[in-house]
Amino acid sequence: MNVRAARAATSLRDSPRVGGPLVDLEELAVIGRFDTVLGAALRRERHDRPFITLAFAQSVDGSIARASSSPTALSNARSLTVTHLLRTRHDAILVGIRTVLADDPLLTVRLVEGPSPQAIVLDSWLRFPLHARLLVDGVRPPIIATTTGASEASAEKLRAAGARILRVPPDAHGMVDLEALLLRLRRSGTRSLMVEGGARVITSVLRAEVADHLVLTIAPVFLGGLPAVNSLAPLDVGSLPQLRNILHTPLGDDLVLSASL
Ligand SMILES: NC(=O)c1ccc[n+]([C@@H]2O[C@H](COP(=O)([O-])OP(=O)(O)OC[C@H]3O[C@@H](n4cnc5c(N)ncnc54)[C@H](OP(=O)(O)O)[C@@H]3O)[C@@H](O)[C@H]2O)c1
Repeated sequence: MNVRAARAATSLRDSPRVGGPLVDLEELAVIGRFDTVLGAALRRERHDRPFITLAFAQSVDGSIARASSSPTALSNARSLTVTHLLRTRHDAILVGIRTVLADDPLLTVRLVEGPSPQAIVLDSWLRFPLHARLLVDGVRPPIIATTTGASEASAEKLRAAGARILRVPPDAHGMVDLEALLLRLRRSGTRSLMVEGGARVITSVLRAEVADHLVLTIAPVFLGGLPAVNSLAPLDVGSLPQLRNILHTPLGDDLVLSASL
């Protein structure tokens, strides 16, 4: 892995909590082990959906932001480098529309060498702003996954601005039906998908029991904010997601954990 110096902050969540040097050689070896395990997992291709890695940063109390609309830098420069390494290992990256509205992220790979994944946004009613950086500054046009009920006029405006619109039927809550979307993505060639959040999207992925791998950064801070995961009540105790093959390492004062689900 060729690690470059952190570039100027471009989005608060996408920029480090604290500066400082990037990974040293020892840390590089541990990250290399994470990468080897993930690489082996990624080779186990599925045909009904992409391989899915959940990757997010949380405080010690399990919050991913101070509040739903409040961007919060949680990762340090080292753990953010791991996030960028993960991004470049996946064909696509998925976030919810509330993350776009709160953070205006780019979701590109900037801290390591390698291609950026295709950005996909779950947006049932096409609230995606025309000035979002994913549209204006992204390396390739984002896919906006929406429902068959969303306005065609909004779809046209977003298409004219460069976005690709993918319509799937709504689920029981009127949101994008995750399983239908995953099948469409796999059929169009997406073999691996990194899910970065926010909390509602993480919860949907866990409830649908489609997460294969987890890379979790724990920052040494209490936030008392937006919990990473909402109720998983529809799942019975026997099917709650469990971690296996756990690897963990401190990176600076962050703890990074990688595991199969
Ligand atoms: N620490 C981290 O690593 C990290 C990473 C990412 C985000 N965040 C933070 O997370 C916060 C946003 O999280 P959030 O939970 O409020 O929102 P979110 O998960 O980013 O977006 C959720 C929205 O996506 C849309 N959606 C469409 N289909 C969906 C589906 N099947 N499942 C789930 N959502 C679906 C829904 O809006 P519509 O009904 O309008 O479509 C839903 O309200 C922000 O503050 C951001 O900074 C933190």
